[in-house]
Amino acid sequence: MTSATSKRRAAEAALAEVKDGQILGLGTGSTVAIFIELLGEKIKKEGWKILGVPTSYQSAYLAAENGIQLTTLDEHPVLDLAVDGADELDKRLNLIKGGGAALTREKIVDSSAKRFVVIADGAKLVERLGTKTPVPIEVLPVARRTVAKRIGLLGGKPKLRDAGDRKDGPLITDNGNLIIDADFGAIDDPQALEFVLKRIPGVVEAGLFINLAHTAYIGSEKGVKRIDRRY
Ligand code: 5RP
Repeated sequence: MTSATSKRRAAEAALAEVKDGQILGLGTGSTVAIFIELLGEKIKKEGWKILGVPTSYQSAYLAAENGIQLTTLDEHPVLDLAVDGADELDKRLNLIKGGGAALTREKIVDSSAKRFVVIADGAKLVERLGTKTPVPIEVLPVARRTVAKRIGLLGGKPKLRDAGDRKDGPLITDNGNLIIDADFGAIDDPQALEFVLKRIPGVVEAGLFINLAHTAYIGSEKGVKRIDRRY
């Protein structure tokens, strides 16, 4: 069982929710990339009319390559369904997102949908958020140091995300900002942390998605597990 198979199973489960004529939020990441490809095949086969609102250049380009017509929140501020991945999720369906640096647009699009479905492989499910991954925070470049200092005062370890092998220097988001990955360890109260992080001047968005997701499909070797949010 590869992680690719688990992701595909989750993506297939989300695709089963899609209906002809819907307007979809298209998340970002490798699991959503599988969903977009499957959706493209479905549209071609069934002649469906689907519109997609992308959350990144990645999902916009992939959607276009797979024959999915794009639209914007200006034209369609309420979406039928958003499908997105996660870096971590707990049983209450609170999430850490932003591994692909698309957290700000993801939060805008995912929260604009009547239904938000998360697709992930089993490795993403944790008892407490922050166990395996830091919290990505999108920050205006001018506030890089002041935000990092405030994260430190809140007990986090801030690290400016590097662009990696293909560019020297920091990663620049699709919005022209920076990402600070803030390691808080296992988080006791993700909602309270989201609140205080968003109050820091210069923070554009925090990658804690609280009470947003309705359902998660978790792919594994046994099949797909569905978790619904308890209200
Ligand atoms: C991008 C995200 C992704 O949804 C998250 O990183 C999960 O990606 P993948 O499906 O590749 O594991 O939040 O900003």
